[in-house]
Amino acid sequence: MTFIKIVSHHFQAIGVTSSDNHISRGIVRNMDIFEKVKHFTQAKEAMELGIYPYFLPLQNSEGTTAIFEGHEVIMIGSNNYRGLTTHPKVRQAAMDAIKVYGTSCTGSRFLNGTLELHLELERRLARFMGSEAALTFTTGYQANVGTISALVTKGDYVICDKEDHASIVDGCLMSYGEMRRFSHNDVNSLDTMLSRLPVEAGKLVIVDGVYSMGGDIAPLPELVTICKKHGARIMVDDAHSIGVLGNGRGTAAHFGLENEVDIVMGTFSKSLASVGGYISGNADVLHYVQHHARALMFSASLPPANAATVLACLDIIEAEPAIIEQLWDNAEYMRTNLKQLGYDTGRSNTPIIPLIIGDDVRTALAWRALANEGVYANPVVPPGVPAHMSLLRTSYTATHRREHLDKALHILEEVGHRLDLIPPAGEAHKVTATQADIG
Ligand SMILES: Cc1ncc(COP(=O)(O)O)c(C=O)c1O
Repeated sequence: MTFIKIVSHHFQAIGVTSSDNHISRGIVRNMDIFEKVKHFTQAKEAMELGIYPYFLPLQNSEGTTAIFEGHEVIMIGSNNYRGLTTHPKVRQAAMDAIKVYGTSCTGSRFLNGTLELHLELERRLARFMGSEAALTFTTGYQANVGTISALVTKGDYVICDKEDHASIVDGCLMSYGEMRRFSHNDVNSLDTMLSRLPVEAGKLVIVDGVYSMGGDIAPLPELVTICKKHGARIMVDDAHSIGVLGNGRGTAAHFGLENEVDIVMGTFSKSLASVGGYISGNADVLHYVQHHARALMFSASLPPANAATVLACLDIIEAEPAIIEQLWDNAEYMRTNLKQLGYDTGRSNTPIIPLIIGDDVRTALAWRALANEGVYANPVVPPGVPAHMSLLRTSYTATHRREHLDKALHILEEVGHRLDLIPPAGEAHKVTATQADIG
């Protein structure tokens, strides 16, 4: 077989015929890498319909409200759980750090990018988490990708919950190990999966502490028991649990399992009002990650203002523990009222409360109607959620006042009825199939 025929055969096998344009009359022409761009039309179609909800600018955002498309909206689409992004002490700490260190470290932690401030932050995080050590990264995404790809090597297995965050999945794909995925929060599925893996292989199980879309909590006690039974290590992504669960110390602290979880990953981009991420755990494990995580070694370090922001937030979280009660009061108030209105909130039991709609287009229309009326929520469609599980992700903060929440509820009621998202007023809330399906 000639080279041309081999190539032609290959294209036919993947559904491209020679008349498609790459191979004709013996001439091989290059496939244009940009070809796929022409076929990506969904976003532009949604823009034309006025229901494209992504990458849209907020003109201003002070946390509980924002200015969007020129008018004020109640913000129920942020991860500012403790409401610290505008706290005067936090702002001041960021400005002071810029005055002292400037705006950037212009280098990686590995080389010129480590300041005493980074080391202070790592000591402080370790103390806060009650762990031997902590290691900071420039984003939470990098913390996951860097840690997982450093630890999981050839011959190892990494086992994830099906609803784990994309940064965990990307870390697994970047590693040289084999990835397996178990059904969401299904401890039996994990048990079976682990029992089928070679006994002698290294195994790392990774779960989210709080699931970012469903707002439900991982069953950590059972997961820890199963991991021990099979000799697997466990890592918990606490992006949405730090500042929220366990007096702010995350999912392991919530269950009293601080000494049973091998690695906790956290982000600074939510309760800690900054940007960046970290892992905490055993000092030798972190030392290894520090010298093998490419996402840490080959990327510039956390800017000083971001590090100082986190230190100020930790001061406030420790000094003002009552803030967490306001957060939970607000979350429970909204969960109760949203359910009473007839919204399907799935299995949420945290300040993340999804409103499950199912259909993508209805979700986008609901987002549009809410934004027009003065509520900012986040529409999430596949692959962010499983097929037919599109939802509006709502989330609440300690700084929402009752009037914000009541106004949001009023609008959610009006839009819910208008778009037929909830049963007519007065009709008892029926439990829908989706309530049993989403995590
Ligand atoms: C569960 C989870 N893990 C990791 C990340 C990544 O964190 P960051 O935004 O700090 O990169 C996020 C952010 O969306 C998240 O929700």
